Parts: sequence; C-alpha cells; structure tokens
Amino acid sequence: MQVRVAAVNNTDIWTREGAYGLPGDPNAKAGWRGPIRFPRVQGGDIAGVIAEVGSGIDTDRVGQRVVVDPALYRDDTRDAPPVGLLGSEADGGFAEFVTVNAEQAHDVTESPLSDEQLAALPVAYGTATGMLERAAITAGDTVVVTGASGGVGLALVQLAAARGVKVIAVSSGGKAAEVLAAGASHAVDRNAEDLAEQIDRYSPGGVDAVADVAGGPLIAQLMPLIHDDGRWVIAGAVAGPVVDFDLRRLYLHNISLIGSSMHTRDHFVTLVEAARSGTVHPVIAARYPLDDLATAQDQFTRSRHVGKLIVTVG
Ligand SMILES: NC(=O)c1ccc[n+]([C@@H]2O[C@H](COP(=O)([O-])OP(=O)(O)OC[C@H]3O[C@@H](n4cnc5c(N)ncnc54)[C@H](OP(=O)(O)O)[C@@H]3O)[C@@H](O)[C@H]2O)c1
Repeated sequence: MQVRVAAVNNTDIWTREGAYGLPGDPNAKAGWRGPIRFPRVQGGDIAGVIAEVGSGIDTDRVGQRVVVDPALYRDDTRDAPPVGLLGSEADGGFAEFVTVNAEQAHDVTESPLSDEQLAALPVAYGTATGMLERAAITAGDTVVVTGASGGVGLALVQLAAARGVKVIAVSSGGKAAEVLAAGASHAVDRNAEDLAEQIDRYSPGGVDAVADVAGGPLIAQLMPLIHDDGRWVIAGAVAGPVVDFDLRRLYLHNISLIGSSMHTRDHFVTLVEAARSGTVHPVIAARYPLDDLATAQDQFTRSRHVGKLIVTVG
C-alpha cells in the first residue's frame, strides 16, 4: 500500500535504542520481543491507500483508503495477543510504500477523520483500547491516567471519558489545560509533592483503577489509592522500568495487576468503528515531512507537545 501519513511513538524510539531489556538483564539492548533483525523500516502508525493486492485478494480493494492494524498476532483467534509490530518485527510506515496482510488494512473510506487523524490512531489508541478492555474500565469508574499528555495517555483520557469514566489525569503542570480539554475531570501535576493527597481529595473512597504508562516511583505512590478489588493496568515505563513497591498494598486489597501489550483484533475493530463513525478525535500536535523524521523523533523525546506528532509521506 501507499503510505500517506505515519506517526511517531515512543515504541519507535525505544526500538531504535534497544531499550526493552531482557528477562534477567534489564539493561540488555533488545526490542520489545527480543532481538531485532536489520535493516528495518520503523513506523507502526500507517494511513494510506491500497496500491496493489496479492493473489486471492479482491482487486476492487485497489485505491481503498485504509488504516493499518500494526499488530502481528500469535494465532488466528479474535483475542490473540500481539507478538510482533510493524516497524519492529516487520517493516513499517516510515516509507512511501509498505506491504501488509490484507486483514491488517481496514477500510476507512467513509471516515470523516483526516488521514493525519487516522494515522494517529493505531498504536496509541489501540494500546489505550487494550488497556481499558483488559482492565474492564466502564462507565461510572474513577480512573487515574498517568502520562496523560502523551500519545497513549491522551488516548486513554479521551476514550475513558467517552465511556463515562471520571478521569484524574497526571501530567506535567503546563499541560493541564490540554488534558482537561481532552475530557479529564481533574488534572494533577506529576511533580506535585502532594500528588497522592490531591488524587485522594478528588476520589475520597479510593479509585477503581490506574491506567499507567509511566511506571517508576508512581507505582509505590499511587497503589495505596486503589480501593479493594481495584485494578492497575500498565502498558509503559517512561518513568522507570524497574520498581520498588510494597506488595502488601496489592494483595491485602485484592488488587489486580494487569500487563497490557497493544490490543487484540477485536479491540482494533472497536477502534476502526469509532474512526468510521467519527466518534474519536485524535489531537495532532505537529507534522513533519518524512525527510525530517529525525527532527520529529528528536522533538518527540523533548516531550513539549500534547497529542501526536505526524509524519507526512505522499
Ligand atoms: N504496551 C504497549 O503495547 C505500548 C504501546 C505504545 C506505547 N507503550 C509505552 O507506553 C509509554 C508511553 O508511550 P507514548 O508513545 O504515549 O509516549 P509519550 O507520547 O512520550 O507519552 C509519555 C508521557 O509520559 C509523561 N512522562 C515523561 N516522563 C515521565 C516521568 N518521569 N514520570 C511520569 N510521566 C512522565 C510525559 O508527559 P508529561 O511530561 O506531561 O508528564 C509524556 O507525554 C512508553 O513507555 C511506551 O513504550 C506501550
């Protein structure tokens, strides 16, 4: 297919740096599933048009506007976990053309979203959907979202708020207005000394869940805020991958600790349906031509933006 727009994710940076560690060696250079084969074209977020189809695929699909599910799944079942990702275990979208399986290219001809908005969805909104589904976060819940100004975090804020969830967003103080505009009920500065007390004031009986992409010291700070039978769902570790926390705060309250990697086929279909109906509203922070990909990744790591950094290709 012909790539029109791609987008930048932390996953691209960590894959390039080999920042995922290995079992027993957290400092080992590795991709998220272990060794990476080179050369490799990165880019897990892709929106574009089908340029050509392989044998057995309906030729009417040529010219179709599509958004790509970047996950490579363990097996053919609808709820199979991802075991690979475009841009990591196969070539991705930082290119003019990319080859994907026909089932990964979802028809979004009728979507009112722009190509840039479509390209903002797969990794960030897919991961956020996976987290909300795996932690069974539903209307009426109160949920703390960490890294709330980032790609996955802002998607969590928007998708959770759209489900009728009360969101307490944790971000840098200067980004509070944007996370509130995305649907958070409250915004808390992650550097505030009274972070836990503030969250406790916003949710006096305890929170139902924490949707976490930061990890690090926030786990020890925020775990005691979850009430009995609550959930901690984690999909990232920007604040530190190796942590110390009091296990008693987990088991004495029957809290579920849920690791969440991307999404399933069914989760992704939910997201595509939202894209087709225009009920999801990705925020674009800035755009760069493919030739300036290095600048886009550099700006990404500076973390001054809110929302997605887009890479325009065609
Ligand atoms: N499991 C999966 O399938 C999956 C998929 C995609 C991404 N991820 C992971 O999820 C994490 C977020 O990815 P992303 O693409 O959303 O990155 P991102 O856009 O950079 O968002 C991360 C956010 O975390 C905040 N942050 C930075 N340092 C922090 C710290 N020390 N403590 C607390 N918050 C901090 C930043 O916002 P503020 O400065 O405003 O706080 C930033 O906006 C990464 O670890 C990534 O590898 C996992």
